[in-house]
Amino acid sequence: MQEFGETCLVARAEDGIHGYVIGFVTPTGTGYVHLIATRDDARGTGLGRCLYAAFADAAHRHGALRLKAITALDNTGSIAFHRRLGFDAKIVDDYNGPGQAMVVFHRVSPLDAVQP
Ligand SMILES: CC(C)(COP(=O)(O)OP(=O)(O)OC[C@H]1O[C@@H](n2cnc3c(N)ncnc32)[C@H](O)[C@@H]1OP(=O)(O)O)[C@@H](O)C(=O)NCCC(=O)NCCS
Repeated sequence: MQEFGETCLVARAEDGIHGYVIGFVTPTGTGYVHLIATRDDARGTGLGRCLYAAFADAAHRHGALRLKAITALDNTGSIAFHRRLGFDAKIVDDYNGPGQAMVVFHRVSPLDAVQP
């Protein structure tokens, strides 16, 4: 993962890793979040929002004009989380191949995405 270090961020504390975001900026200016996760005991504390803010800032500095992420249809927590952060959520049929729909999140401005 050394090639994506600028946009892969880890939240650490004395008791270990509390969360992380793994993403990158595509050549066409999309800041793509491959995975974001916070530890069970850190959820609901604002850490996920904070990680997205840090990612949006890093992605912006590396040329991102928009943010994108995807999740499974049954990941209702992720869908609620991304909507709270200002993302559009659309179900895209066959996204992962025939019969495999995914929820696709978009936000035009990466910095807008971090506003409450
Ligand atoms: C999704 C995830 C990263 C959210 O992290 P978090 O640290 O709990 O998020 P925050 O505390 O910063 O929440 C930000 C906002 O989203 C809302 N939110 C977060 N999780 C939510 C949930 N499951 N249901 C409803 N709202 C949720 C919060 O209420 C908060 O809203 P507010 O600002 O109005 O109070 C975390 O639940 C997680 O790691 N899930 C498992 C991995 C995963 O599914 N990742 C996403 C797909 S790759």
